[in-house]
Amino acid sequence: MALRKIATIGEPVLRTRAREVGVDELRSPRMQALIDDLVETMRDANGAGLAAPQIHEPVRIVAIEVSNNPRYPYKPEIPLTILVNPVLEPIGDETFENFEGCLSVPDLRGVVERFARLRVRALDRHGEPVEFETAGISAGTFQHEVDHIDGVLFVDRVRDPTTLCTWAAFRRYHEAAFRAHVEEIVARYGS
Ligand code: NI
Repeated sequence: MALRKIATIGEPVLRTRAREVGVDELRSPRMQALIDDLVETMRDANGAGLAAPQIHEPVRIVAIEVSNNPRYPYKPEIPLTILVNPVLEPIGDETFENFEGCLSVPDLRGVVERFARLRVRALDRHGEPVEFETAGISAGTFQHEVDHIDGVLFVDRVRDPTTLCTWAAFRRYHEAAFRAHVEEIVARYGS
């Protein structure tokens, strides 16, 4: 396993639609090593998720894991999840406002609107189909990561640019209110 360099905003790999991965290719040592590197790099950077294009690999693979995350201490936990060729389908049209950040957009956060309930369909790292529902803050994390494999960054979805702020300004001016907002969302959606 190896730590990979994380691509930052401006790198073309972050703006390209990543390609699907076939099952035979997925099971190859190269792709399995790529997934191990994705997880190791995500954990090293304290990411809640990381998409393969963020480590300069333009394929439709994302890793998500939230466990005592120091970058996002209010996020509900998500066990390590690897999604290959994921497809998200909103359930209903409810949305919520999420204050997001991204390892590929250093020291910036902003408010984006996300669907509150989703069905997730994908392959796991072994090529087996998985399907589950997610909601609330966790659903926001899945949407953020799947955006990456479509070449979309959270800043594209920020409707009100006055919400953009550094992490220090987030902590100083927004964190208390956002934590209360997160508690309401978790109470409503269970995650
Ligand atoms: Ni990101």
